[in-house]
Amino acid sequence: MPIEFRPLSYALGAEVLGVDLREPCPPDTWQAIHAAYLQHGVLLFRGQTISREQHIAFSRLFGELDRHDSLPMDRDATHPELLMVTNDAKPDGSPSNSKYTGQMWHSDMSFTLAPALGSLLRGVSVPPVGGDTLFSNMYLAYDALSAKMKALIADLHGVHHAERKNAGMSAQWEAENRRLNPPVAQPLVRVHPETGRKALYIGEKVKQIEGMTIEESQPLVDFLVRHATRPQFTYRHQWRNDDLLIWDNRCTSHLAMGDYDPRHRRHLERTTVLGTPSGHVAQLELSA
Ligand code: SIN
Repeated sequence: MPIEFRPLSYALGAEVLGVDLREPCPPDTWQAIHAAYLQHGVLLFRGQTISREQHIAFSRLFGELDRHDSLPMDRDATHPELLMVTNDAKPDGSPSNSKYTGQMWHSDMSFTLAPALGSLLRGVSVPPVGGDTLFSNMYLAYDALSAKMKALIADLHGVHHAERKNAGMSAQWEAENRRLNPPVAQPLVRVHPETGRKALYIGEKVKQIEGMTIEESQPLVDFLVRHATRPQFTYRHQWRNDDLLIWDNRCTSHLAMGDYDPRHRRHLERTTVLGTPSGHVAQLELSA
């Protein structure tokens, strides 16, 4: 069956048909996948019963993989390229660190100095209903701003924190997370290095605009997040086991909705492709 792409929503996303990721990817297939990735921002491959090694090998086509040194508590012990997104309890019976991963609008690893280029998330065991992931097209969000707003934010930086919503993490986890991940300032507008298009770079991990107080920053941050996640910019993914979902973190943002019965297992595994260096450790002398 020849490779085929079917749009998933008006705003972004396409399903890829006719590719078996257990097989090596021939160059012309890779070129078609890469072009579709740049065009649609999110790609879905259904029914991929791949091993961890095959997941990692396919991910490497996109670039060098993050070994998740900034989230060591969540990576797999034997495959540091794999980040666990799971509600499975730990071997000692304590709650998973990552059951609330992604439950804030964000772009992966925005709180580091090498924010992710892309992410490849595999649905290993998903709930029968819910546990969806929402995506937003940050090109469309940027394009829809007024010229005055574009001018206002052109040179501003948002300060990204590595926190998690609803986390209920141990004090030890929180302290380690803060130690490893000091707040990082990223431009509010980034130029995509491959398409040359401008995209908004904002999410709920942004607590402040660098050089402004929190009070001054909040209305602007709130507006931009609300604007960027308007329904017409989004695609909602309903997971099935053996889905591989890939997204371009440079022009999309996403949210794990957490809309599922926690008695059901939700276990996904993610590789993260390293992006180009961006941002700097935040200057936060203004905190009031
Ligand atoms: C993530 O943000 O990488 C996880 C998304 C999800 O669990 O739906």
